[in-house]
Amino acid sequence: MLLAAVFCLFASSVKIVSGADWCYQSQVSCNYTCTGPEVWAAVSEDCSGRSQSPVNIMTRKILPDERLTSFELIGYQETFHGRLTNNGHTVQLDLPTTMKIKGGNLPTTYKALQFHLHWGKNGGPGSEHTIDGEQFPMEMHIVHIKEEYESLSQAVRDRSGVAVLGFFFQESKSANKKFDPLINALKYITEPNNSTTLTGVSLEMFIPHKDNMTKYFRYDGSLTTPNCAEAVVWSLFENTIPLSRNQLAAFYQLLYPDGKQMVNTYRPVQPMNGRQVYYSGGHVALVSTVLLIMSVLVSSALSLHTAG
Ligand SMILES: *[C@@H]1O[C@H](CO)[C@@H](O)[C@H](O)[C@H]1NC(C)=O
Ligand SMILES: *[C@@H]1O[C@H](CO)[C@@H](O)[C@H](O)[C@H]1NC(C)=O
Ligand SMILES: *[C@@H]1O[C@H](CO)[C@@H](O)[C@H](O)[C@H]1NC(C)=O
Ligand SMILES: *[C@@H]1O[C@H](CO)[C@@H](O)[C@H](O)[C@H]1NC(C)=O
Ligand SMILES: [Zn+2]
Repeated sequence: MLLAAVFCLFASSVKIVSGADWCYQSQVSCNYTCTGPEVWAAVSEDCSGRSQSPVNIMTRKILPDERLTSFELIGYQETFHGRLTNNGHTVQLDLPTTMKIKGGNLPTTYKALQFHLHWGKNGGPGSEHTIDGEQFPMEMHIVHIKEEYESLSQAVRDRSGVAVLGFFFQESKSANKKFDPLINALKYITEPNNSTTLTGVSLEMFIPHKDNMTKYFRYDGSLTTPNCAEAVVWSLFENTIPLSRNQLAAFYQLLYPDGKQMVNTYRPVQPMNGRQVYYSGGHVALVSTVLLIMSVLVSSALSLHTAG
């Protein structure tokens, strides 16, 4: 870092903008010394914790868990007016707290706060979580907190205070018309702190059909931006959301506070540190057969032992 700073002093016509704020790697440059992902721990100690997000999901290491039933989505079909904001790091849609989720082996009911997205550049990789090393062009996070809490800052003091539903996107040939209200509004909020109101939208519009939400990955992790609080029960859905190349490109018109293009808005994957990822769909019958055989073997070994 010191070397970079010295180098920057000699570079021609640089204007050093001091950024106490955190930023993504795509913002780190000579003349904008913000705090990139490698050093987020300087902003919040939690960012160097042992249960951080995002992670790479290795499908050969996941464990099926039959308690991971489908979710009950409450109010997701209701239309609402929501504030859409360029907050300098991403685009965020504030949600009415009448939208709730339960089921899916969550300990209680959680209410929605907002959703936001993470994306790449020119149709390239942009998701935060990866599956077997594959990074998708975009990822959406619907952030919920336990019903009993008033705010995110209150919820993050609880190890399972936050439940995020994560969705991966895939580039499609045809446009996903359901995203048009959001995508068409982006041109009004290209600068940080700009916001606009989305009217007549519902959460249901933005996510796959409920029938396609039964397969998901579950693990315990953190917020993927500072303060990186380790308070998140993650549910990442296997079914992707389609968006055309042009629709993805609409996000690249947004700008960071330094005037640069808001692209590659993701944190690199973090170490698992022994954490297990569970999976809701399939293979359950196979596993119970294995367990059955094992229990037969164990009990026969036990009876042999008692007999001996
Ligand atoms: C967006 O923010 C900039 C800078 O604060 C401001 O000049 C501009 O008018 C805003 N645009 C809208 C559509 O609110
Ligand atoms: C969702 O599943 C239904 C069948 O239940 C299927 O017809 C539809 O194409 C799927 N939609 C998406 C977006 O995956
Ligand atoms: C956005 O608003 C916050 C406070 O509301 C302010 O601190 C910040 O400087 C603003 N950023 C820009 C780019 O206008
Ligand atoms: C930083 O430098 C680049 C060129 O090296 C320039 O395009 C950009 O506007 C500068 N940003 C600031 C905030 O001065
Ligand atoms: Zn996020």
